[in-house]
Amino acid sequence: MKPIQRSLDYVSRYGMSNPIFLAPMAGACPAKLSAEVANAGGAGSCGALLMSPSQIEAWAADFRAASDGAFQFNLWVPDADPIRDPDHEAKVREYLCTWGSDVPADAGDAKPLDFAEQCAAIIATKPPIFSSVMGLFPPNIAADLKASGIDWLASVTSVDEARQAEAAGADAILVQGMEAGGHRAYFDPIDANDRLIGLVSLLPAVIDAVKLPVIAAGGISDGRGVAAALCLGASAVAIGTGFLRTPEAGIPSAWADGIGASTPEDTIISKIFSGRLGRSLATDYARAATSVDAPNPAPYPVQRGLTQTMRTDGAKQNELARIQAWAGQSSGLAKAEPAGALLKSIWQDATSLLD
Ligand SMILES: Cc1cc2nc3c(=O)[nH]c(=O)nc-3n(C[C@H](O)[C@H](O)[C@H](O)COP(=O)(O)O)c2cc1C
Repeated sequence: MKPIQRSLDYVSRYGMSNPIFLAPMAGACPAKLSAEVANAGGAGSCGALLMSPSQIEAWAADFRAASDGAFQFNLWVPDADPIRDPDHEAKVREYLCTWGSDVPADAGDAKPLDFAEQCAAIIATKPPIFSSVMGLFPPNIAADLKASGIDWLASVTSVDEARQAEAAGADAILVQGMEAGGHRAYFDPIDANDRLIGLVSLLPAVIDAVKLPVIAAGGISDGRGVAAALCLGASAVAIGTGFLRTPEAGIPSAWADGIGASTPEDTIISKIFSGRLGRSLATDYARAATSVDAPNPAPYPVQRGLTQTMRTDGAKQNELARIQAWAGQSSGLAKAEPAGALLKSIWQDATSLLD
């Protein structure tokens, strides 16, 4: 079957008219952005990691007030509790203070929100899709999704993880190549550094390994990327960084401008923001904190707590050096255009290449 037909057949189950998903982006996917994408025939997305149950409910209501299109919620599956090292954390705190913001002594104690409560709130909103990242949903959540008619989209970064997701009952697989902006979706923090696999290698390998539909993410920001992913066998694509310069995304202008001015070599993968690997612009902080002179980051989520003040102050003051400026390797292709028009032009370019 031709790539366009295969992808349109797949997304028709969600009432979509093109196979483009907004990628989940915690802290950077307001309902308005999702509604614009869904109203243009794609699917919206909410990275709910940082959202309480009432914020989750409010997001779904805001989205539904603006669109009757498709969308997904997304949550991180919690890691095991980190091993703490107070002496080392003190060094990281001291280092971070040199970046212009005080780091409270208990900053590293900040805990992620309650996963079970977040899951219950998401399932109660009955989204068409609920995606997992950083691991697999436990069997009780997988069973609740089946019972509620919600599709489970499992994010993976390797063939092995894709096989695990299929065996655990996922309905579709999101393959994240190492080009992707934001956190890497790997399950096991131990071997993450050795598994930086690019999308062109990973996507066909996963498609050959599983029977489920596969959605491609990582470095796709224009029609050429969409067409290439569909030719490699993807049933749909997910675009993150490519939508960050849209007015609806509402990120600080220093970050949006940094994305627009970047080339692929201007991004860097590191654990310096949260303790988990993620790809950001190579800002002054990113370069300095990854140098040999800087202390190693604390484990997730301790490092995330330690950098919280710097990141919040950076965003408030619109200072790129202190912003958690996530960006994928194709960030330079991201356009500062309204999201709906941008999505339509990306799909039009892709279809003319594929016809
Ligand atoms: C700002 C930002 C936040 C992100 N947050 C999440 C998240 O909460 N959950 C998730 O599964 N992926 C998250 N990601 C990864 C994206 O879902 C997706 O895999 C990635 O953006 C695809 O690569 P691209 O940025 O090159 O399009 C995030 C990415 C960005 C850029």
